[in-house]
Amino acid sequence: MASGRESWSSRLGFTLAAVGSAVGLGNMWRFSYMTAENGGAAFVMLYVLMTALVGLPVMLAELTLGRGAARSPVQALIHYGGRPWGALGIVFVLAGVAILSYYGVIAGWTVRYGIEALTQGFPADAGDKFGAIATGGAAVAWHLGFLAVTTLVVSGGVRGGIERAALWLMPALGVLVVGLALYAATLEGASAGYAFYFQTDFGALADMDVLKDAAGQAFFSLSLGMGAILTYASYLSRDQDLPAESVTIALSDFAVAFIAGLVVFPLIFALGLQDEVGGSTLGALFITLPKAFASMGTAGTVIGVAFFAALVVGALTSAVSLLEVVVSTLIDQTGMERRTAALVCGGAIALLGVPSALSLDVLGLVDQVGGQLLLILGGLALAIFVGFFMPDPTGEASEGSRFGALLFAWRALLRFVVVPILAVVSVYTLIDTWNALAALVAG
Ligand code: PHE
Repeated sequence: MASGRESWSSRLGFTLAAVGSAVGLGNMWRFSYMTAENGGAAFVMLYVLMTALVGLPVMLAELTLGRGAARSPVQALIHYGGRPWGALGIVFVLAGVAILSYYGVIAGWTVRYGIEALTQGFPADAGDKFGAIATGGAAVAWHLGFLAVTTLVVSGGVRGGIERAALWLMPALGVLVVGLALYAATLEGASAGYAFYFQTDFGALADMDVLKDAAGQAFFSLSLGMGAILTYASYLSRDQDLPAESVTIALSDFAVAFIAGLVVFPLIFALGLQDEVGGSTLGALFITLPKAFASMGTAGTVIGVAFFAALVVGALTSAVSLLEVVVSTLIDQTGMERRTAALVCGGAIALLGVPSALSLDVLGLVDQVGGQLLLILGGLALAIFVGFFMPDPTGEASEGSRFGALLFAWRALLRFVVVPILAVVSVYTLIDTWNALAALVAG
């Protein structure tokens, strides 16, 4: 089985695909509204801390498991840990299904905003517009369309589909966000945006809720805790430097999120829309930013279309990685042909996303459970597995690496830092999820 397994055609191909998985709506949409909601720089600092201290070791754990086993998550966990650990792989697949089901809906809004802006400009009454398009038949249709494209890429295979798309799309995304940040710097009043972005409310540093959000954001943004990075690593050859890769992926992911902040906050403050940032919610990016673009005339349309194009690119390469986890599992479990597997999984997930396209409450709940709770619990279980149970992970991770000598610290980090932090964060996230459920039931 392993000999016939697909593989990346180049090192860069893997790196760009993995960065493509990480960089997505999480960086440009979720990161800005989380930062706004949690008071600016304090959140960013905790986020950096969580990325370095918890995200990086878990990223290396996924890379090591995936490359070592050269199998999709369920089989990789069974390979190293025996049958019971296979259950964790099943949770990964379920998380992937859940996340992609609503991710497609948000990506659908994004595509629609971009395309309609091209023909009609941005609406001045973006709040009404968002209210009108966020749910309903058209939201379902754009979601289905987005998942159809995602399915097409995945059915093209590791080299012909995923790697090829990443090779073109990721450099384009990089150019777009850097260009946008440079433009935003020229706006009069941008400095108020920077001031907000860099202001530190030190009280927030000790706030467990902020810590919980920072950890959750790190996992979501780095694509950790559900086997996406593991699956991509399963197509790697043994001479790739895994510790170096984990640093490259995490740094690129942070860079894009940080630069997106340098676009979003100056724009919002330069145009005097900051009051709306305080009450920031899921829709912030789809309301405040279009308002900003609308008030800037033609320049606003150009800048806005570029912004939404970058979002769409990020969303697509991330969605592809989510679908690949499910598809590769189906292929490994049943021997099904890739194209059929992609069609079956893409189709099923598209249908499962319909309720999220019909109700923002459902979307929020699936995000809370799939995008937050399951990733943190998945990351915790993974850290426990690689930290305590997997035979010789350090040996496997050092293969092909220049940094093998530093890796003795990695397992200790997993055991004594990552596991305790994630255990505490899990408790807070569970309470949060419980409250969200209760609020929904109470109406
Ligand atoms: N990391 C992606 C983003 O930031 C989302 C994602 C989560 C992708 C989990 C794969 C796995 O948008």
